[in-house]
Amino acid sequence: MSDCKSYLPASPIGMFDSGVGGISVLREAVRLLPNERFVFYGDTKNAPYGTKPREEVLALSRQVVRELLGRGVKAIVIACNTATSAAAAALRAEYADLPIVAMEPALKPASLLHRDGVVLSLATPGTIAGEKYAHLYSLYGEGVISVPCPGLMEFVERGQLSGPELTAYFQNLFAPYRDKHVEAVVLGCTHYSFLKKSIAAFYPGVPLLDGNEGTVRQLRRRLEALNLLAPPDAKGGVELLSSGGKAPVERMKALLNAEL
Ligand code: DGL
Repeated sequence: MSDCKSYLPASPIGMFDSGVGGISVLREAVRLLPNERFVFYGDTKNAPYGTKPREEVLALSRQVVRELLGRGVKAIVIACNTATSAAAAALRAEYADLPIVAMEPALKPASLLHRDGVVLSLATPGTIAGEKYAHLYSLYGEGVISVPCPGLMEFVERGQLSGPELTAYFQNLFAPYRDKHVEAVVLGCTHYSFLKKSIAAFYPGVPLLDGNEGTVRQLRRRLEALNLLAPPDAKGGVELLSSGGKAPVERMKALLNAEL
């Protein structure tokens, strides 16, 4: 299925997520790659991905990648841990020439912080059930408690980044670990990066680790190696798209520009 076409440095980079979560990766990308143009696609109509069967997430991811390729992108960033788990390997096999950069829950950096306490790894049920996560866990899972968070991305989709309902969700989620010494919290879903303040209220001073910066650095390395970085005088920019119409695009815009 590979297109075997050559990609051009001046072309935009395609990025996608099930919804607004990937905007947390886009924020980092805009900061670190200011000369690049980005087309971000939130598959809001089909969100959440994290509670759907793997095959369905793979089919949805394929559809989004086709949509982005139709817009002439030179690379794809899967700004979603769940879609990475379900689709990254298949997409890389199907589009062998296309640089595809994906997410990984930050268990590796968290393992460096682990001493005698525990690391809480928050992610969607789909990510935690996936083979990719099992492999990562086998390498860096010492002291890690995996915490599936069904229903959490929906708060971010609604624009609820704080408030009593979210606090109640976290109270319930963290109750089993009340007597544990938590050394780090892994944010293994791109939506959760927007909830850092609310999570920090439960774990003051504890490092909250997402994979966003690492993913963007990896993107930069890939583009550089393929001579696909935009020229230094190029004007960067962002185009936001959603399968769910105009309202989610407005929420994406707000999150892209929000002071967090
Ligand atoms: N933002 C996505 C992730 O990183 C998933 C949220 C969802 O659709 O369940 O896993």
